[in-house]
Amino acid sequence: MSTPLLRTERLKKYFEVKRGFIRRSKGYVRAVDGVSLTLNRGEAISIVGESGCGKTTLGKTILRLYEPIGGKIIFNNKDITYLRWKDLKWYRRETGLIQQDPFGALPSFMTTKGILQEPLIINGVKDKKERMEKIYRSLEQVRLTPIEDFIGKYPHMLSGGQQQRLVIARSIILEPKLIIADEPVSMLDASVRVEILKLLQNLQRDYKLSIIYITHDLSTTRYFSEMIYIMYAGHIVEGASTKEILKSPMHPYTKALLNVIPDPDPSNRLKVREVPAGEPPNLLSPPSGCRFNPRCINIIKGVCDSKEPPMFEVDKDHYVKCWLYDHT
Ligand SMILES: Nc1ncnc2c1ncn2[C@@H]1O[C@H](COP(=O)(O)OP(=O)(O)OP(=O)(O)O)[C@@H](O)[C@H]1O
Ligand SMILES: [Mg+2]
Repeated sequence: MSTPLLRTERLKKYFEVKRGFIRRSKGYVRAVDGVSLTLNRGEAISIVGESGCGKTTLGKTILRLYEPIGGKIIFNNKDITYLRWKDLKWYRRETGLIQQDPFGALPSFMTTKGILQEPLIINGVKDKKERMEKIYRSLEQVRLTPIEDFIGKYPHMLSGGQQQRLVIARSIILEPKLIIADEPVSMLDASVRVEILKLLQNLQRDYKLSIIYITHDLSTTRYFSEMIYIMYAGHIVEGASTKEILKSPMHPYTKALLNVIPDPDPSNRLKVREVPAGEPPNLLSPPSGCRFNPRCINIIKGVCDSKEPPMFEVDKDHYVKCWLYDHT
């Protein structure tokens, strides 16, 4: 049976907004507002949602790059939610983050060798030979080969795809258990996107890595197959296996998202309808009840606009946060 590597329980992260000369508080942006999810060892899950729904905030809060304000993060059976900075060193080694912009993530004044050596030195790998072995191994894993062609290069001498491979090499060099890949291909040329996604997929399978793949593009989630969580305005609104979500989406928001997947078959394009009108809500003052209610075509007046729905388990391992599925 698969065992969880990571669990979040009602995890919350708000940002305080201050304005004006005296920096008076204008309230809180509720970017992550009670998110519960589970990631098993060696598996991958995807978090999907529109821009601004809280995906990056969720990822960075899980990695403790942002301080949570509520809920729990359990990693390897340890509650790490409020561990102090100095007690988190092991967690930094066990986790890694891959972001959108590889060039911005790489120090421009360092060569490939220097970039890969840095985390090894910081984490006390003193033996020079051992360090070189690890550097070579990671470059082979991300297929930056022949290694001699890359080891002395600076980031600006690499293509976007090669830069992202180097970022990936750096993130796996200490053999972490968890990688969060936050829109890892959205800034790359369309021609190299698939190869980077396949690389991540292979790393996950070959090295029993657990991956949280963050994207706004449902069609790319097929590379990371176990579970998809659909996020809307700081909430997870639906969670199920990728197959289930694609075959029988239940939340009106998920249905709308599926309808905007670009379909390579032109005869299917005409079927694109139902895209919810309007914008996602302002997270400083989200709508009461279900946060999707102002855009929802299935709204139950007097219910959806006043009471926040709980997560209903509609099928085995298929969860939906929507009043339409309240059969109590
Ligand atoms: N450091 C911050 N201070 C204040 N508000 C923030 C901060 N970071 C994010 N936010 C707000 O939190 C909300 C969620 O932002 P987040 O970046 O997590 O969304 P996202 O889903 O990753 O979006 P995108 O797809 O554009 O990357 C947004 O309303 C954003 O403006
Ligand atoms: Mg983001």
